[in-house]
Amino acid sequence: MYSLARKLLFTLSGEAAHQIALEGLDAAARLRLLKPFVAATLQAPVNVMGLEFPNAVGLAAGLDKNADHLYSLDQLGFGFIEVGTVTPRPQPGNPKPRMFRIPEQEAIINRMGFNNKGLDYLLAQVKKQSISGVLGINLGKNLTTPVEKAVNDYLLGLEGVYEYADYVTVNISSPNTPGLRNLQYGEALKGLLLPLKEAQARLADQHQRYVPLAVKVAPDMNEEELQSLAATLRELKLDAVIATNTTLDKTAVNDLRYGAEAGGLSGRPLTEKACEITRQLANALEGDLPIIGVGGIFSAQDAVDRIEAGASLIQLYTGFIYRGPSLISECAEAIASIKPA
Ligand code: FNR
Repeated sequence: MYSLARKLLFTLSGEAAHQIALEGLDAAARLRLLKPFVAATLQAPVNVMGLEFPNAVGLAAGLDKNADHLYSLDQLGFGFIEVGTVTPRPQPGNPKPRMFRIPEQEAIINRMGFNNKGLDYLLAQVKKQSISGVLGINLGKNLTTPVEKAVNDYLLGLEGVYEYADYVTVNISSPNTPGLRNLQYGEALKGLLLPLKEAQARLADQHQRYVPLAVKVAPDMNEEELQSLAATLRELKLDAVIATNTTLDKTAVNDLRYGAEAGGLSGRPLTEKACEITRQLANALEGDLPIIGVGGIFSAQDAVDRIEAGASLIQLYTGFIYRGPSLISECAEAIASIKPA
């Protein structure tokens, strides 16, 4: 079923296919046509960050940037859905085309640039669609906010979403917002995370509910940089780390059509690298923070490998585009079989 839909969708540009697929999904969900075709959400509960996840497989950020499709995506069986990246104010992102499929390597290059409808819009969407799984909201900064003032945008985001999110992600690893990745290092990282942790404590008090804060990192870091990052996350008591975002290393696709496009690479070429980063982070974190593993997960075996490398949960994006919804239950079942509830 999905392979037929994929054939049709892949005749369109990446972004058009994405839009049509999600609108089709919404229509099918409204007409109650989805349930007969997708497996029921696998109930294999895992407790991470103090939250109970129905199963360990989530949707990674960037597919439902504005939380427009929460209701229908939830019916596909994800244990959790991360919406966003959302920025305080709406912004158009980079000029199109800005998303390119590279089927020979089951990869995507994107340079979307945080196109989104802004915080108020996302909140309105989240308020009207409740889901059975866990809801993560992924925060970014506006392009026009200088990196030195990025903390203001993240604080606005955190304040805005706190009441509605089950967990919040601080995304400092998109390669498509100039300077953003510099926030992953040294004093810049501390200068960002400390005020966010203080705001989290204040908001937890105010709302009488602790909402965990995760940090999403890039795969393009060496071991020393990862050690230093892990030390800061432990020191400041962040609640989780999401590894990884897209990579700037395009070696695997250099000779292929679209392989030289600017942007971040995701999918198959990222599998090994993201798994290795998970392993290194797990060593450096020594169990203090859980890891959400993402990047190039295309099969049950990839999911198991990521858990064995040290992740507690996984997320899908490019594998979901290439393999379709059946990948969710395949991965969830495989993880459940190694991690009995
Ligand atoms: C992404 N990703 C992403 N991540 C994020 O934190 N915020 C975002 O807005 C986006 N947007 C986005 C758009 C597109 C088109 C793609 C392909 C990816 C990154 C994504 O969540 C994930 O971390 C990486 O794609 C690696 O996982 P996969 O795709 O290899 O499974």
